[in-house]
Amino acid sequence: MRVELLATPDCPHLHLAQTELRAALEMIDGATPHFDLVYVSDLDNAAGLGFHGSPTVRIDGLDVVAVAMGDPINLDCRLYPQPDGRSAAVVPAQTIVAEVERRRAVEVQERAAQPSLRSLPARISRGFFQWSSRRRSLARMATAVPFTRAMVRRFVAGDRLDHALAALERLREQGMTWTVDVLGESVSSREQAAASADRYIATLDALAQRNVEANVSLKPTQMGLDIDPEFCLANIGRVVERARQIGAFVRLDMEDHTKTDVTLGMVRELHQRHIEVGAVIQSYLRRSEADVEALNRDQIRVRLCKGAYDEPPAVAFKTRDEVDESYRVLMERLMLDGRYPALATHDEAIIEQALLFADRNGIAPERYEFQMLYGVRRDLQERLVSIGQTVRVYVPYGTQWFPYYMRRLAERPQNVLSIVSSVLRERRG
Ligand code: FDA
Repeated sequence: MRVELLATPDCPHLHLAQTELRAALEMIDGATPHFDLVYVSDLDNAAGLGFHGSPTVRIDGLDVVAVAMGDPINLDCRLYPQPDGRSAAVVPAQTIVAEVERRRAVEVQERAAQPSLRSLPARISRGFFQWSSRRRSLARMATAVPFTRAMVRRFVAGDRLDHALAALERLREQGMTWTVDVLGESVSSREQAAASADRYIATLDALAQRNVEANVSLKPTQMGLDIDPEFCLANIGRVVERARQIGAFVRLDMEDHTKTDVTLGMVRELHQRHIEVGAVIQSYLRRSEADVEALNRDQIRVRLCKGAYDEPPAVAFKTRDEVDESYRVLMERLMLDGRYPALATHDEAIIEQALLFADRNGIAPERYEFQMLYGVRRDLQERLVSIGQTVRVYVPYGTQWFPYYMRRLAERPQNVLSIVSSVLRERRG
């Protein structure tokens, strides 16, 4: 257990805070009374440490008293509720002990709930789901069986347009907005590709008729990229033309790195015809810094994500730290110079950094948005809305859910267990 006490050098409560922390550590089973004292000297230092006031106690890098999202970075005294109901500037020993016990109980519960998964090397399971997402034969088998609602509905709004519309209504009630994905990718015939474009046009029309925001995301391979890039551009062009007529937005999702150049080329071409056409940049790709610069120059809207495909190290960063650092750099470029960027992530540390960056640079919430996937971190989506941020949810619907669903499992292999256990609960119920 790594224990840190963070304080400003002149904190008048430091001595008391040290005494309380020592007392707490003595009460905790197996804890050593040792802690690191970290001085926070100025606002830059505070921002780097995510420091919200002095003193702060952190265990294993996490604040023992949660900070509300959006709370400003500052060097002032921080107040904590005391056992007698009043507030004072030290974290009471009881609070520290209770928080450590709570975290230990959560760990025990998680271990008990996921015995087999923990023994499964995460990299193998991730690789398996990424591999499965590319297998057409598996997709055919899985989507041929009746829509396994309980399993798939966690991430997919449904198989029909009316399911998607119902999901949008629920999001509207929660103060969120959306982009709709009519599921499908890697089609193998021109007829299928043309039918995909038709489905998008029908979806745009349905949104416009109901007078709800018309914003869609589509995959170039769904429009025939693997068959013929010219034909693909013509198909997407039809969707973009309808979007132009009704004032809708169209974003071209980004697939694996072999499609980056051609996809960005199509975005540029389509953007000339309709300004509301946007691109996606993946922070795991080494080339992305140059792509962001070029897109900023052309004022093309960018969605920034980490990237969901299994890419070789020659083109992509492979460690989490590198991908996250790249995300931060690109995020700052987009927030400063881009046109209404979309920060697509569920990573709380990155989101906190974005809020902080916006605050310090006077970038109002109207100048960017957060995007998250349907069914992922709904708590975080609601929290961001509650502090006045725009949250756009990526809402997929359709029968061709298999590759999308496999990528969501690859991102977090623990999902398999939580989904299976919810299906079993439903069967029993
Ligand atoms: P990270 O993977 O570090 O996850 C942070 C936390 O979020 C996790 O600890 C977990 O709590 C939660 N989380 C993340 N994924 C989860 C999941 N599947 N199930 C449950 N919890 C999960 N990619 C791409 O290559 N091309 C694209 O066009 C897009 N488009 C896109 C649109 C939108 C709106 C989003 C949000 C994402 C994409 N992506 C994408 C996917 C993206 O590249 C990435 O794979 C996922 O968003 C996961 O990365 P995070 O940034 O959330 O961080």
